[in-house]
Amino acid sequence: SAAEKGGYDYFMLKEIAEQPKAVADTLLGRIGTDGRLTLDELRIPDQVLREIDKVVIVACGTAFHAGMIAKYAIEHWTRIPCEVEVASEFRYRDPIMDDRTLVVAISQSGETMDTLMALRHAREQGAKVLAICNTNGSTIPRESDAVLYTHAGPEVAVASTKAFLTQLVACYLVALYLGQVRGTKWGDEIFGIIRELGDMPKHVEEVLGTMEPVRELARSLADARSVLFLGRHVGFPVALEGALKLKELAYMHAEGFAAGELKHGPIALIEDGLPVVVVVPSPRGRSILHDKIVSNIQEIRARGARTIVIAEEGDEAVVPYADHLIRIPATPTLLQPLVSTVPLQVFACELATAKGHEVDQPRNLAKSVTVE
Ligand code: AGP
Repeated sequence: SAAEKGGYDYFMLKEIAEQPKAVADTLLGRIGTDGRLTLDELRIPDQVLREIDKVVIVACGTAFHAGMIAKYAIEHWTRIPCEVEVASEFRYRDPIMDDRTLVVAISQSGETMDTLMALRHAREQGAKVLAICNTNGSTIPRESDAVLYTHAGPEVAVASTKAFLTQLVACYLVALYLGQVRGTKWGDEIFGIIRELGDMPKHVEEVLGTMEPVRELARSLADARSVLFLGRHVGFPVALEGALKLKELAYMHAEGFAAGELKHGPIALIEDGLPVVVVVPSPRGRSILHDKIVSNIQEIRARGARTIVIAEEGDEAVVPYADHLIRIPATPTLLQPLVSTVPLQVFACELATAKGHEVDQPRNLAKSVTVE
């Protein structure tokens, strides 16, 4: 009903708008006044977490994209090797695990069969399993050693939005907590990141306030045959997520690539007028990455692509090569997906609506996939 949708036409629009609160609620009570994390609900003793020598993340779809981003954060902040794999592939390749492996299963619904089977397999090998889940008491957390709940509230639309942002928050918390208990790189950088994490609800709100030009652009692309998405570093999984949203909602050919892979094949796809969305990392910090992606944008534009560039406020280097420029607030590189994903959600939702599709219930899809 209209009341359930809180005045929005679709649950998806309501859920996109709820993201600042979802992010804030997922952080709530987990950052102490001393700037340290308290994740009491983790139930895996700190001693065990100190001895973990490998993290393996398993998930499907959008939750898998959250896991890909988590890998960058975990390895950078903790120096623990981390693998991430789609749950449906994981157990069939006879993965190597033991009691010093931490398996992180990410699932909004907590009922995804592929993810459940992967975690059962992990537990049989003696691994510790931590679930990141949005649904209280669902099967995946019940069968895990511990659970960190995301507090997105119920997500009704089939396309995941607010659950994804809260999965990212939970992944950052796990990575930072591992750093905290193990003392790795624990210092100013990490304290700074925790502070910045606290500012993210405000930044998500800022992005939401500037989405009208994105909606307008989406409507103008309703007849495009295909849209490509490029990113580097954590922008790469964001590109994959942008493409997945467009496939699910607009039934369009959409593909995400690591921008550095362009010249290894995908650049052959570029033709006159092809819309290409590029997620640009911050020019601060790892500026080499930034420079490389700016040359990628030049390359595709020279071949006729219509460039849609998502770049941080104040990044002037991209301006000459952006046919459309979408600004996001400046954040630490690893946290950028919390803001860069939002325009892609809005873009896909609006484009699908312009094509006349029902965005809450896309064809052929179920909210949770409870078969293998
Ligand atoms: C996202 O938009 C999808 N509908 C889908 O990829 C989903 O993220 C995936 O099926 C995993 O679901 P889960 O988080 O409930 O396990």
